[in-house]
Amino acid sequence: MEIFIDSANIKEITRWLEYGIADGVTTNPSIMFKDGIHDIEKGAKEIARLIDPRPLSVEVTSNDLDEMFTQANEFASWADNIVIKIPQINTDGIPCYGIIKNLEIMGVKVNATAAMSFGQVMLAAKAKATYISIFAGRVTDEGGDASLIIKNSIEWLKRWNFSSKIIIGSIRSVGDVITAALAGAHIITIPPQFIDKMADHKNTRATVDQFLSDAQKTMELMQQVKKV
Ligand code: E4P
Repeated sequence: MEIFIDSANIKEITRWLEYGIADGVTTNPSIMFKDGIHDIEKGAKEIARLIDPRPLSVEVTSNDLDEMFTQANEFASWADNIVIKIPQINTDGIPCYGIIKNLEIMGVKVNATAAMSFGQVMLAAKAKATYISIFAGRVTDEGGDASLIIKNSIEWLKRWNFSSKIIIGSIRSVGDVITAALAGAHIITIPPQFIDKMADHKNTRATVDQFLSDAQKTMELMQQVKKV
């Protein structure tokens, strides 16, 4: 299973890369805005260079299907490892699967984003999206069963030999990460604060503290023995 960093924060991305944890990065216009990236091209190029050859997802910023297609080609030209996020549908409910299919045929990798149902996953896989992002937190917010959607999707893709990889996004807690991992997600994209939380445990701190203090006592004893 791979872990992506759901962030545009260069410091955080660098840290998790250096720890050997980050297999890729996902962004969206809200993340870019929150992390202070106002020039999408400059920001995307910087992150893409930093994580190369790992994939960076960058989302189109238009609701118009033709404009999405043009933008996707432009964004993809910024770096070889840029993957284009195209939503399942636009705000009018018009399916974007035709764009996904055509981009993939042209060699542009697509992350079919904002999936909230197993039905959408099936359609995005049929359109041959490289990645399909299920927004687990937003599914759960509405009382949906994210774990079941993930399990069904993974099982169905495998049964019919689809190559699309499922990314689980919209992570709201460490519990969401565990649920997605156990449900068989190929990839989970996690905001940095939850990866820090995954690493931390008060009993691990206490155990390390105990070992260090005993090590200190042992060293003091050894010094005393040497003096005798
Ligand atoms: C994933 O690719 C998305 O960028 C992200 O996880 C969406 O999360 P949100 O529901 O917190 O906006």
